[in-house]
Amino acid sequence: MQKVDLKDKYLKFFEGKEHKIIPSAPLIPENDPTCLFNTAGMQPLVPYLKGQVHPLGTRLTDVQKCVRLTDLEEIGDKTHHTFFEMLGNWSLGDYFKKEAISWSFEFLTKVLDIPIEKLAVTVFEGEGQIPRDEESANVWKSMGIPEERISYLNKDNNFWIAGEVGPCGPDTEIFYWRSDSPVPQKHDPEDERWVEIWNNVFMQYEKHPDGTITELPKKNVDTGMGVERTVAILEGVDDNYLTSIWKDIIEKIVEISNTTYEENPESIRIIADHIRTAVFISADYCGIKPSNTDQGYILRRLIRRMIRHAKKIGIDLESGFEKTLALMVIEKYKNYYQELTDNKDVVLDVLSNELKKFNRTLEKGLREFEKIVSHLNEKIIDKDLAFKLYDTYGFPLELTVELAKEQGIGVDEEGFKQKFKEHQEKSRAGSEQKFKGGLSGSGEMETKYHTATHLLNAALKIVINKDVHQKGSNITPERMRFDFTCDHKLSEEEKKQAEDIVNKWIQEAIPVTVEEMKKEDAVKSGAECMFIEKYPDIVTVYSIGDVSKELCGGPHVKNTKELGHFKIKKEEASSAGVRRIKAILE
Ligand code: ALA
Repeated sequence: MQKVDLKDKYLKFFEGKEHKIIPSAPLIPENDPTCLFNTAGMQPLVPYLKGQVHPLGTRLTDVQKCVRLTDLEEIGDKTHHTFFEMLGNWSLGDYFKKEAISWSFEFLTKVLDIPIEKLAVTVFEGEGQIPRDEESANVWKSMGIPEERISYLNKDNNFWIAGEVGPCGPDTEIFYWRSDSPVPQKHDPEDERWVEIWNNVFMQYEKHPDGTITELPKKNVDTGMGVERTVAILEGVDDNYLTSIWKDIIEKIVEISNTTYEENPESIRIIADHIRTAVFISADYCGIKPSNTDQGYILRRLIRRMIRHAKKIGIDLESGFEKTLALMVIEKYKNYYQELTDNKDVVLDVLSNELKKFNRTLEKGLREFEKIVSHLNEKIIDKDLAFKLYDTYGFPLELTVELAKEQGIGVDEEGFKQKFKEHQEKSRAGSEQKFKGGLSGSGEMETKYHTATHLLNAALKIVINKDVHQKGSNITPERMRFDFTCDHKLSEEEKKQAEDIVNKWIQEAIPVTVEEMKKEDAVKSGAECMFIEKYPDIVTVYSIGDVSKELCGGPHVKNTKELGHFKIKKEEASSAGVRRIKAILE
């Protein structure tokens, strides 16, 4: 097996086609409350796909870290992952179908040396106002892809959108013949030996919440290639976990357990997958910690499921194995993701603390589970028992469901969720739609709150001291949350002062202006920014009079007077040395 350097080859290739390499955006979408994690490379680029000018131009390429939770239950098989990396190249109103397709073809056949005989493609057959995509098919034919290797499919297959609304368009997908059997002449979309490796979306439409579709101001290209799957193909294995990406981690898990990969592939893959995702979530600069809501809940679920499987295959839970594995993940990815180095200690602490916490109740919980099962009259665990496992033993519902399933038993999940809601007024973990992804989040209120975070940031520097820095923010149409460095709980007076200063600035009707500049000039000019190394060389800087100046992608209101009245609702600890303010505009 030959190790394939896919990421470097990809970025270099598109750099050669005049694309600018941009850094991966954080895993957690900024200011998009409808979505827990980025699920595709295009997601952080939505404002630019919708028409905003990107400071680096009209051709971009990157490796984006993604988490998809729709596949969570599938983890354990050969091909699914919760975390994965997506390679992408974008045209923002620049090139379109011809160039995109011919470069895809060139990269696959010339750089990766994939024989054309092993490729097939699908294109959109057309529906309603959107015509059959003959244009793409013709480009493919001109590249030498024969007619029989082109399938025209409907919008379920060849029309791409992230979630329900946003930029979208017909796509053309590229398939590779993964089998030792001879390649059939004709592409059969039902034959699973044809594996999708790359998707080119021609994003020229926007879908709105009322279901209507309008043309975007510009025709864009959005492409996505999953690193794990493509590496598996190139390295000639049909199990992604046997590629060079995973090999050493899998070997380590086998070494410290009392089993083999052949005996327990599912548990071993679950441990490998979940530890990698947990490392990336907890390393993200947003500072996610295990909790009972939103991203924190996902992190908790992943770590606890990982621990349960580690126990199952005989790993000593007190051996520090979680650190050993996490360090391997960090080592492997640190050249691409600076946050892994910066937050190494945070990651190790998160994992060890969660392990300690869960380990205290896991054994007893498993015994309780066995007791419950042995007393069941019907093959279903009712909501009260499931809730007891959750509340007393820290078993996430999904863990109970998984344990039950292994014994052919069901769980009253709906009943549990009801009970959970009643008991956890604060919890919003059940918001299923959030798990699926989807886009929005630049509505009028979100935009106002976004500007308010800049004002609050500036006000806190006056009230506390100039070393206050933003550590994160989260915005919904109803409120803003702002995390910042500060070593003490704010006094009533400090809160009042911050509030008053923000309101004074709002009343002063200060215009908000935006400019583009070199990153180093922005820094020199004193512009505030959360993580300087995360920004490209050319940045956008938003200024609010001489009150605030921040590196930021926007969007913002035009004038502070649009904000209304600012009110702090709550101030609390977020993590060591970091405080959190929740505030509203009324
Ligand atoms: N956004 C497209 C996808 O995720 C490229 O498949």
